[in-house]
Amino acid sequence: MERTLLLIKPDGVQRGLAGRILGRFEDKGLKLAGLKIMRISADLAARHYAPHVDKPFYPGLVRYMTSAPVVAAVLEGPRVIDTMRKLMGATFGWKAEPGTIRGDFSNSTAYNLVHGSDSPESAEREIGLFFQPGELVEYERSLDSWLISEDDA
Ligand code: RTP
Ligand code: MG
Repeated sequence: MERTLLLIKPDGVQRGLAGRILGRFEDKGLKLAGLKIMRISADLAARHYAPHVDKPFYPGLVRYMTSAPVVAAVLEGPRVIDTMRKLMGATFGWKAEPGTIRGDFSNSTAYNLVHGSDSPESAEREIGLFFQPGELVEYERSLDSWLISEDDA
C-alpha cells in the first residue's frame, strides 16, 4: 500500500492544531504507520528541502522549519500521496480552498501548517529522512474491509 510523509509544521504544533490535523487524515480513512514529535536540525531541513535550495524563500523556509518542534507521521492508504495533498489544499493558506486544512486554518504564504510528499519518489526519500525502518509499524485494522474496497487494493 502507498505511503507518504506528513509533517505538521511548527505553526501547527504551536497553535495546538496537531490533533485536529491528524484527525482530518484519520477521518478520511488513512492509516498511521509512524508518528513522532521532534525538532528538525538545520541539516535535516536542508536535506528535506534540497529541491528548493535555489528558491528565494529557501532561507526563510529553513528558519521556519527549525524554529520549533514538528510532528512527523507516515500515512498509508490507496493513492495516499494524492489524497493527502488534496486534504492539505493549495500551498498558500490565503489561496487554499475552504474545507482543506490550509484553507480552513491558514491565511499565510509560508506558515501553511503541513507538508506532504508530492510524488512516490519524494515520499520514499522523505520517509527515509525522518524514520528508521524499525519505527514504522505494520498492522491490520478491523475496519479496513469497510474503508478499502477490492478496487482500491
Ligand atoms: P510542502 O513541500 O511544504 O508540502 O509545500 P508545497 O509542496 O505545497 O509547496 P512547495 O512549493 O514545495 O514549498 C515548500 C514550502 O515553502 C514555503 N513557501 N514559501 N514565500 C514563498 O513564496 C513560499 N513559497 C513556498 C511554504 O511553507 C511551502 O509549503
Ligand atoms: Mg513541496
